Amino acid sequence: MRPPNGATPHGPALDGPVLDGPALDGPVLDGPALDGPALDGPALDGPALDDTGPDRPALNLAEVAAGARRRLDPAHWDFFAGGAGEERTVRANEAAFTRRVVVPRVLRDVRRRDLRVSLLGSRISMPVLIAPTAFHRLAHPAGEVATARAAAGAGTIMVVSMAATRPVEEIAAAGGPLWFQLYLQPDLDFTASVVRRVEAAGCTALVVTVDSPVFGRRERDLRHRFVDLPPGLVCENMRDASGRVREIGMDAGLDWARIAWLREVTTLPILLKGVLHPADAALAVSYGVDGLLVSNHGGRQLDGAIATLDALPAVVAAVGGRLPVLLDGGVRRGTDVLVALALGASAVLVGRPVLWGLAVGGAAGVRHVLDLLRADLDRALALAGATGPADLHPDLVATVACG
Ligand SMILES: Cc1cc2nc3c(=O)[nH]c(=O)nc-3n(C[C@H](O)[C@H](O)[C@H](O)COP(=O)(O)O)c2cc1C
Repeated sequence: MRPPNGATPHGPALDGPVLDGPALDGPVLDGPALDGPALDGPALDGPALDDTGPDRPALNLAEVAAGARRRLDPAHWDFFAGGAGEERTVRANEAAFTRRVVVPRVLRDVRRRDLRVSLLGSRISMPVLIAPTAFHRLAHPAGEVATARAAAGAGTIMVVSMAATRPVEEIAAAGGPLWFQLYLQPDLDFTASVVRRVEAAGCTALVVTVDSPVFGRRERDLRHRFVDLPPGLVCENMRDASGRVREIGMDAGLDWARIAWLREVTTLPILLKGVLHPADAALAVSYGVDGLLVSNHGGRQLDGAIATLDALPAVVAAVGGRLPVLLDGGVRRGTDVLVALALGASAVLVGRPVLWGLAVGGAAGVRHVLDLLRADLDRALALAGATGPADLHPDLVATVACG
């Protein structure tokens, strides 16, 4: 597949394509570490977490990013970091969190804290999931298999991208739970075959990306002439029956009828990824989807799109509790998770930080990222007077003019 975003006339895109998996309905995942915020040490396969020196692991995600930047080919760093246009929306996602402040409660006995949540039949150790991102083998030779090991070890869900560079069966063998991200392809028979494949692999939900009728224009990739994957890397889940690897195509004709089609093709829960407008959230409910992901693709599609945190409250109101609403984009601290949950998200996902961890330390690096977020969220909960996600409500958050 061609990478990056449509640097060629019909090329698929770089960040694009994705993968999904089948699934059972509802398996569970309690991962380790369930009870308690504890963080079990990292350590899966990887090299040391020496982002800032040989003697200590990174203290936060910014330090993990710095370590990744040192290790990655600059074209690949920019592919991961960049967004569309002048990257206003990339910046807006993080800036939106700095405009929210926590109004903590006190004297509430927060000794027993529990970060676990249940989502579409899966019980996970914390309300932080791994967002679908393309091409993990650009970050680490083990690619998505390493990411899946870390997710399984941390007891959370990995959403596998349709643009994964390892086969979904190998990713699933690393442990679950997995959801699969799907770009609905114009060839419906092929799309249905991918659904069957990911179902057979054990994926437990489909995440349909709906914010990409065409590719966003990513100027960093154009500058690097990063238009194709390096030799030997392909989107492994785009192989058709003949073994040929298809390019992931964006479909400008995608509409609600295609969601209704997918609803007939699978019994897996379906989430729509990329819903920002409350009218679309209400439509999604009427089309029988099972969850929404408030996302602007990490600012990689429509530059100038609303920050996800700014979009969240209206989407939550439109859904009215009928579906879980998740959010991604710019989540970098435990306080960000707390704020998103207080404003109505059931959970959040992280994209770039996982790629940074993978680049720095393979599975151990990803696990370190997840553990940092877990510990940070646990601490933020305690300091805000909460013992878990159920204690988080909008009254704990105020909006200020700037961060
Ligand atoms: C390098 C990269 C590749 C991505 N690939 C995909 C993809 O294949 N499918 C998809 O639906 N979203 C993709 N995304 C978007 C993420 O799923 C997610 O929406 C975004 O990264 C969240 O923002 P964050 O990176 O600030 O956490 C990609 C994002 C990045 C950074």
